[in-house]
Amino acid sequence: MDDTVIDSSLRTVEWKDNKVIMIDQTKLPNQLVFVEYDDFNQVADAIKTLVVRGAPAIGVSGAFGLALASLQSEATTKDGLISDLEKARKILYETRPTAVNLKWGLDKIMTVANSESSVEQIRQSVINEAKKMADEDIQINKTMGKYGSVLFDNNDTIMTHCNAGALATVAYGTALGVIRATRESGKNIKVIATETRPVQQGSRLTAFELKHDGFDVSLIPDTAVGYSMANGLVNKVIVGADRIVRTGHVFNKIGTYQVATMAKQHGIPFYVAAPLSTFDMKSDAKDVIIEMRKGTEVTGIGDKKTAPDDINVINPAFDMTPPELISGIITEKGVAKPPYEESIKKLFEANY
Ligand code: MRU
Repeated sequence: MDDTVIDSSLRTVEWKDNKVIMIDQTKLPNQLVFVEYDDFNQVADAIKTLVVRGAPAIGVSGAFGLALASLQSEATTKDGLISDLEKARKILYETRPTAVNLKWGLDKIMTVANSESSVEQIRQSVINEAKKMADEDIQINKTMGKYGSVLFDNNDTIMTHCNAGALATVAYGTALGVIRATRESGKNIKVIATETRPVQQGSRLTAFELKHDGFDVSLIPDTAVGYSMANGLVNKVIVGADRIVRTGHVFNKIGTYQVATMAKQHGIPFYVAAPLSTFDMKSDAKDVIIEMRKGTEVTGIGDKKTAPDDINVINPAFDMTPPELISGIITEKGVAKPPYEESIKKLFEANY
């Protein structure tokens, strides 16, 4: 059997027999390897090293990390257990700074933990809540897919950047979830995936995931975004997000801003798909921390060195796309349209 065949019921991250099971995304597309963790420190490490990545997937992984921490703790009182969970929370939180879903997942679990009174109740509720978050993630993606699919037409070619697919979530995906739902609604569509240097989530994960699921997908180097748009190869763009602030500024994989700017230049609609757990209604755009990653991601490809020794490298993992470049933000509560400050507020008011 091909060892990279992914069954559609497979989850990127799940809880089984008091352990966290994940697909090791650093090994894709060459090998499908599952890792199994029983220590929250291993989960923190997995988030940091991109074994698991993508905003919703790391949100759920953080929650599962706290579930492991609750089992690892030897505390016999509620206060003792909460204190151990707080320590684990800090370690998990400090893994990656940009995707707000991680904070959302950790905060949700801590709220549940604090609401229980005994050590046993806390453990049970924390595990149940983390499992529920994983199940809900899939449901939310499917709902987003339904709202988003109406924005796409038969015979569209849709460009996407990075990986906002099943592999970035528990399953189904956000941006790729909308693409899946569009096909499920009977429309014939093609996809263009950017390579997404330097970590290559586009070629390693998106192209792999879509090809595996039988989509007509073409891979382009990031440098061919302008060419593709100028030559009429793209009708629409859809990407995911790591954080969206209340003004509609979208933080997503480095290069998203370039794709959005180019789309504006060519009059191509640019959509973002993200669950409400990706919204940060408190921070201002200028306060969001952009993760800077190590230079070796840029100075080589695989084991091959592609830059001179000791070169200075600037390697931001994310950038910010301003609201004026965005045609709509697809969520599980509907599609927000400009002006975003109002439409985003309405999404939250309507449901909380
Ligand atoms: O560094 P990564 O791979 O975690 O970055 C992922 C992205 O930027 C995705 O586009 C984003 O998390 C949306 S995933 C549904």
